[in-house]
Amino acid sequence: RLEEMWIAISTGILIIFMVVVGYQTFALGMGPPSNKETIDPQKVDQTEPFDEPGISKIGDNEYEVVMTLQAFGFTPNNIEVPAGAKVNFIMTSKDVTHGFQIAGTNINAMVMPGHIQKISHTFDKPGEYLVLCNEYCGTGHQLMSTTITVK
Ligand code: CUA
Repeated sequence: RLEEMWIAISTGILIIFMVVVGYQTFALGMGPPSNKETIDPQKVDQTEPFDEPGISKIGDNEYEVVMTLQAFGFTPNNIEVPAGAKVNFIMTSKDVTHGFQIAGTNINAMVMPGHIQKISHTFDKPGEYLVLCNEYCGTGHQLMSTTITVK
């Protein structure tokens, strides 16, 4: 029957759409949060690389910042990098979900306990960049900020 054929076709199209969306979300890692790497939030201090948070030079013009977020601060604090260098942030949270937003850039990431967030940015213009937590994380949330100085 004709109606049954059309129902079968539209159902088939729907399934194809769902498969495509599901594939894009999971296989391509487009779903938030975008990183599948996990970590035990109770053992952040004992887990590499978060046992040694800090900034290190990893290439000619490239830096790595290993950072932990916790209520209500960023470790390390007050980072300094040269202008034009690529900076790779590797972050996790030690307690609840925090945000990592750098004012004046398009960097705006969620940092969740149990997950490793990786994000890279090149600061072309020197200056003081304000880093804010943009996820409500408790009574000190509005105090949670730091700066990145680009020289
Ligand atoms: Cu951390 Cu809000």
